[in-house]
Amino acid sequence: DNVENETGTVRQLLAKLCKASLRATFPDDLELEPLVAICTGKFGDYQFNNAMGIWSKIKGQPGPFNKPFSVGEAIRKTLPPSDMIESTSVAGPGFVNVVLSKPWIAKRIHAMLLNGIGTWAPVLSVRRAVVDFSSPNIAKEMHVGHLRSTIIGDSLARMLEFSNVEVLRRNHVGDWGTQFGMLIEYLFEEFPNWDDAGEQAIGDLQLFYKASKKKFDEDNTFKERAQQAVVQLQGGSPNYRRAWQQICEISRREFDQVYQRLGVHLEEMGESFYSPYIPGVLHELDNKGLIQESDGARVIFLDGYNIPLIVVKSDGGFNYASTDLAALWYRINEEKAEWIIYLTDVGQSQHFEMFFSAAKRAGWLPQDGGYPKTTHIGFGLVLGSDGKRFRTRSSEVVRLADLLDEAKAQSKKQLIERGREDEWTPEELEEAAEAVGYGAVKYADLKNNRLTNYTFSFNQMLDVRGNTAVYLLYAHARICSIIRKSGKDVEELKMTGSIQLDHVNECILGIHLIQFPEIVEDAITNLLPNTLCEYLYNLSEIFTKFYSTCRVVGSEEETSRLLLCEATAVVMRQCFYLLGIKPLYKL
Ligand code: ARG
Repeated sequence: DNVENETGTVRQLLAKLCKASLRATFPDDLELEPLVAICTGKFGDYQFNNAMGIWSKIKGQPGPFNKPFSVGEAIRKTLPPSDMIESTSVAGPGFVNVVLSKPWIAKRIHAMLLNGIGTWAPVLSVRRAVVDFSSPNIAKEMHVGHLRSTIIGDSLARMLEFSNVEVLRRNHVGDWGTQFGMLIEYLFEEFPNWDDAGEQAIGDLQLFYKASKKKFDEDNTFKERAQQAVVQLQGGSPNYRRAWQQICEISRREFDQVYQRLGVHLEEMGESFYSPYIPGVLHELDNKGLIQESDGARVIFLDGYNIPLIVVKSDGGFNYASTDLAALWYRINEEKAEWIIYLTDVGQSQHFEMFFSAAKRAGWLPQDGGYPKTTHIGFGLVLGSDGKRFRTRSSEVVRLADLLDEAKAQSKKQLIERGREDEWTPEELEEAAEAVGYGAVKYADLKNNRLTNYTFSFNQMLDVRGNTAVYLLYAHARICSIIRKSGKDVEELKMTGSIQLDHVNECILGIHLIQFPEIVEDAITNLLPNTLCEYLYNLSEIFTKFYSTCRVVGSEEETSRLLLCEATAVVMRQCFYLLGIKPLYKL
C-alpha cells in the first residue's frame, strides 16, 4: 500500500480492515459494523471492540466459539495483511489490540509535511452548512454572551471549512424588532435635522437607546407614536427606512471593530432580511394545518410543550419565532444548506427546540435524522470572580471593546516584564500583545465544555504555566526556535531526509500527531471545540517529554527529529488556526 494514497483518518483505515475481517468471519451477519477506538490499555494503539457484542448474540448457538476471547481471536486471524499494522493481540474479553507500524506512522507524517496539512482534513458527509453565530441586537449592547457565540461559532466554522464544507457564516443580527419604532420616533422628535446632522445626531448609540427607552416608558403618547413608527418602517416608508439604516450603520461599525480585532469573518443577514418571507412561510404552515388561533394570537401547538409557539402576536405583528421560521425556510430552500447550526446561550434552548419541532411537522426536516438537519448549540454563562454574571465593577454590562483592550494591555505588560520591549520593534510588540491577549480570551472560552459556565479571569487566562493560550504559544515559538537554531533548511530536509521512530517518546509523539484528523472530526461532529484544545495541550506536553529525552540538534538522529519538530509545529499551527488564535514564531 502507498501511504500517500490512503485517504481517511487512522480510525477509518483501521475500520476498513476490521470490516473486512468481520465479513470474512461472520459472512451471514452483514449488519456488523466495525467498532474501533483508541486503546485504553498499554497493549496497543487502537483496539477493535466487536467481540463482546457478537458473543452476546451467538452464545449458546452451535459453532466454533466458546467465549468472547475466541471471537476476538477469529477477528484477529482474518484481519487482512496491512502495512499499517506492526502486531495484534487479543485481550481478556476479546478486545483486539492493534500496534501500529512505526515506519507507517513515520511515512504518514512525512507525507503530510510534503503535501500539506490540508491532506489531513477529515471528510464529512455535509457539503454546505450555515453557522448562525454572534448575532447581537442593533442598538443594544453586544455582551459577553455574544462574545461566546462569536468565538465558538468562528471556531466551528473554521473546522467545517477545513473539512471542505462550504460554510455560510451568518450574523443574524436583531435589526427588526419593535425597538426601532421607539428609536426612530425619538430621533425624529429630538433631532429634527437628523437627516443632515447624520450620525452625529445619535452619538453614542447605547445612551441614545437608554434615553429613548426612558421616554417610551414615561410618555404614553410617545409610546403610541413609536408603535405607529414601527408600522411605517415595516411598510417601507422612505424616511423611516433611512433613519433605520442610519441607526443600523452605527451599530454595524461598532460590531465590525470587535470582529476585526478578533479576526472573525461574518456575513450580516439580519432579521430584516427574512421579513418579506414571513407571510408566505406562515401561509404554507397554515395550509399544512399547523397554525391555530389562541387568545387572538396565531400559534403552533407542539407535542411535549405546555405552551404553544406564537408565530403572529395578538397585535398582528411578527416575532422572533416567525423570523426564525422564515430564515430556516430560506436556508433550506434557497441556500440549500444541509446542516444549520445556531449558537446562543442555553437560555434560548426551548425557542430552538420548538421551532425545529414545528419545522419537522411541516416536513422541512426529516422526522428521524438525516439531512437537512438543524442543531442549536447552547452554551453556559460567563461568570465574574464573584460567581455571578460577569459585569463591570459598577455592575454595568462589560463592553467588548474594553474587555479586548484590557486583554491586550495585560499581555503587553507581561511581555514587557519578560524583557521583550528591548528585543523587539514596537510593531512586533503590538502584534504579539494582540495575539497573546485575544488568543487568551478565546482559548479560555473554547477549552471549557461549552455547556458549562466559566469564570472570566485575566490572571488565569494569562498564566504562562497553565493550560492557556500563552503557554501554548510559547511552546510553539520554542519549537520554531529549535528549528531556527539548528541552522538547517527544513524544506530541504523534507525533500532529502526521512523520519524514524525509535525512542519510545518519539513513538508517542508520532501517534499523537497522526491522530489529529480524527480529533478534528470528533470536535466538529460533536460540535465541541474543547476536544481540540485538549488535543493541543496534550500535544505540547508530549512534545516537551520528547524534547527532554531526545536530543535534537547535534544528535545522530538530527534530521528525523527536526522533521518531527516541524510536524509538531505544523499541527500546532493548524490547531491555533482552527481555534482562531494567531500563532507567533518567536515569543
Ligand atoms: N439576536 C439574538 C440575541 O441576541 C440571537 C440570534 C440567534 N440566531 C437566531 N437565528 N435566532 O439573543
